[in-house]
Amino acid sequence: MTDQDKDVVDILSEDHREVEEMFRELESLGVSDPAVQARGRLLVDQVTIALVRHAVAEEVVVYPAVKERVSEEEAERAKREHAEAEESMKALERLDPEDPSFDQEIRKLMTEIRTHVAEEEGEMFPHMREVMSREELVKLGGQVEAIKAMAPTRPHPSVPNEPGPRLAAGPVAGLFDRLRDLASGRGKEG
Ligand SMILES: [Fe+2]
Repeated sequence: MTDQDKDVVDILSEDHREVEEMFRELESLGVSDPAVQARGRLLVDQVTIALVRHAVAEEVVVYPAVKERVSEEEAERAKREHAEAEESMKALERLDPEDPSFDQEIRKLMTEIRTHVAEEEGEMFPHMREVMSREELVKLGGQVEAIKAMAPTRPHPSVPNEPGPRLAAGPVAGLFDRLRDLASGRGKEG
């Protein structure tokens, strides 16, 4: 499959697999020596970066289309789930890996995201493929990639999960997040 052949469902499902791989590694860590904790922090930062970009792209591009063409209820439920996961990511951003709540928050986040992914892949995505043309799905895919390229990399739970505010806050928050990431080496090995 070339990049041009990918539709929005392929792209979002790939994001889900990538996050699930990081979750599996996080689950396998478990031991609390400092090297393992450093790896845990790196993985949590990488998971957060991937999830925030994915969530913003879904909220700006995908959910409005789902609301219009598939079901308002499915779009609203997905947005609520994003808001909850964003709170967990914010908590994790503030916690040290040696803090006992760090592990607890990771588990909470994994449960939230896995439920959300199961719902999207089990219901929303098949429904989108039922009612939308291939052309439409490919076009949405292109828009998702464009938003992901400029989306924030840190959770911003105070920004409402609506396309307008997300888009307005996106480039500024995204730039600011990236500068902070650059300065701190966040999400980068060694
Ligand atoms: Fe998703």
